[in-house]
Amino acid sequence: MVVLGIESTAHTASVGIVGEGAEVLGLASDFYRPTAGGIHPREAANHHVEVLPALVGRALDSAKVRPGEIEAVAFAQGPGLGPCLRAGATVARMLSLAWERPLVPVNHCVAHVEIARVLSGLDDPLLLYASGGNTQVIAYARGRYRVLGETLDIGIGNFLDKLWIGLGGTFPGGPALESEALQGGERLPLPYSVHGMDVAFSGILTATLALHAKGAKRADLAYSVEVTSYAMLTEITERALAHRGRDSVVLGGGVACNGRLREMVRAMTESRGGSMFAPPKSLCVDNGAMIAWTGLLAFRAGVTTPVEASGVEPRQRTDLVATPWRPE
Ligand code: ATP
Ligand code: FE2
Repeated sequence: MVVLGIESTAHTASVGIVGEGAEVLGLASDFYRPTAGGIHPREAANHHVEVLPALVGRALDSAKVRPGEIEAVAFAQGPGLGPCLRAGATVARMLSLAWERPLVPVNHCVAHVEIARVLSGLDDPLLLYASGGNTQVIAYARGRYRVLGETLDIGIGNFLDKLWIGLGGTFPGGPALESEALQGGERLPLPYSVHGMDVAFSGILTATLALHAKGAKRADLAYSVEVTSYAMLTEITERALAHRGRDSVVLGGGVACNGRLREMVRAMTESRGGSMFAPPKSLCVDNGAMIAWTGLLAFRAGVTTPVEASGVEPRQRTDLVATPWRPE
């Protein structure tokens, strides 16, 4: 079985084609880059509308797959920015009608989780999903992915992006902050904000910008922000492991590209006798392959939607989505 998936929830327009064993046969992506500040939803959607048709062609070419071999067309239904979601959904509906193939709606967060899970080879791991808009510790139970802990304000990636722009950089902040942090060494005092199983980042943002205004070195600020915020994530992940009686963790989402976060979670899991797995970076960040793979799982379990009922869901939460491909 071969499924094509379309991702367009935020900055990234991407088309992926995957096979039965989660092999990525084709993947083509293009990123909207705001000229200044953060994302402008309508501009991003315009970007996606422009690039998606060519991305479909590139993904098919690189996969050496003909449209007739695609068995279902999956798309990210939510969560995300309305105009961006609608751009991807429109292309998916059109392909579904033109190719006479079923349309499969996919939750973007569940897709980050499913691609990371299948690549890890672990059947039922605990998941740390750390991306732009989301920061969640997730475990599966009785037909749903359950959110055990999460951010109380902004997603860690958006926090890193905002912070980096505040320090004079440009979007995306996460990778640039990672390089900058490698030059730093002094740990400056920042609020450490863990509340039970949850975390919050806005206090660290304010405190960092205040230290910056007082002349603190940017490399030390970057280092301190990374050490502090990744320690918070590692702590809530460890607490979740302890509660669930588990030892292994799978990372997903764009921030899972980060070397320091990977190392901190790895050290924590290994001290418990477990292990950490993170997908290759191209499959941590938003990508069409994760939508295609989750679409394949859903389609095999009988999930499809008529075009008339395939509206997007900008606020669709991880724990509200049924996952009939997983045993109860
Ligand atoms: P969501 O899944 O919440 O909708 P998203 O759509 O914003 O997230 P992702 O591609 O999953 O997109 O994640 C993008 C985020 O990952 C950005 O905030 C970016 O700064 C961050 N990021 C990417 N690489 C790194 C890195 N090496 N270190 C830290 N953060 C990173
Ligand atoms: Fe994402």
